[in-house]
Amino acid sequence: NELKKWVSVLPKVELHLHIEGSLEPELMMTLAKKHQIKLPYANIEEVKSAYNFDNLQSFLDLYYLGASVLKDEDDFYQLMWNYLLKCKEDNVVHVEIMFDPQTHTERGIGFDVFMPGFKRAIQQAQQQWGQSCLLIMSFLRHLTEQSAIETLQASTAYLKDIIAVGLDSGELGNPPEKFTQVFKMAKELGLKRVAHAGEEGPADYIWGAINALDVHRIDHGVRSIDDPQLIAHLIDSQHPLTVCPLSNTKLKVFDHMQEHNILTLLDLGLMVTVNADDPSYFGGYLNDNYHALIDHLPIEKHHLEQLVKNSFNASFMTTEHKQKWL
Ligand code: ADE
Ligand code: ZN
Repeated sequence: NELKKWVSVLPKVELHLHIEGSLEPELMMTLAKKHQIKLPYANIEEVKSAYNFDNLQSFLDLYYLGASVLKDEDDFYQLMWNYLLKCKEDNVVHVEIMFDPQTHTERGIGFDVFMPGFKRAIQQAQQQWGQSCLLIMSFLRHLTEQSAIETLQASTAYLKDIIAVGLDSGELGNPPEKFTQVFKMAKELGLKRVAHAGEEGPADYIWGAINALDVHRIDHGVRSIDDPQLIAHLIDSQHPLTVCPLSNTKLKVFDHMQEHNILTLLDLGLMVTVNADDPSYFGGYLNDNYHALIDHLPIEKHHLEQLVKNSFNASFMTTEHKQKWL
């Protein structure tokens, strides 16, 4: 397929990627062995066959379990390095990577362990092939706002390495308004803001992310389609949506890729982008997500060009840096 080949080699940007969700079963098993951690899997095939999800929570349970093998600086380096190699392979020239500090601090692993590991890999990729990379610190919304505030405080020494804060984990029952204070504190510190909203949760949570958290982008946002007033607002405001096609079908947000509304949202004039979310759990990296759209939706070259252009424009790159690519 010509279109697939063309999009594969095109310079692209990724804006919604959880580094813990790029942990491949091979590295998971290697690190479990290294640290003598017992996992409920006998081999790599068993890990892969466990990745059959009914909803967001059934995925999150395995995602947090998988992350438990990450313990020392070198583990975090290896995790980041493996993902950056994928960026090179998929020609993702700029990426904004989310990490979940609380997934590690709750296990007694601090910023001084994971941040040096992440930074070493990023510097190496930058030196070796000019990889551009920014970090987004994401708060777990199933925990309290106080825990998010403590996380923001614990990150002080690394704020210069962090472009934005985000909000992820179980959406239902954890509305954006729960995190109003910590997002306000982050804004005062000069951090940009993004939040998962309207993945499993209602369109109201997208309003909440915009109004209470003052976000620059919405992660997912596909449930915006349920609220005509919100759609009109998103067309007008051009708040980017970081849509993740393979994630949405794996987590049953849409039963089949043919039912995905990304093309509808794009044609309506929303600022839509394509992303991988948790590639090792959902069956593919960025190119695989574009390929899935090409395989299942009546998508044309001009749509793909718009999606890629949107990702550059929706990124937190400097204007100068953007101009190099657009
Ligand atoms: N954490 C990792 N991936 C996530 C997703 N798609 N939604 C919410 N939390 C997540
Ligand atoms: Zn996500």
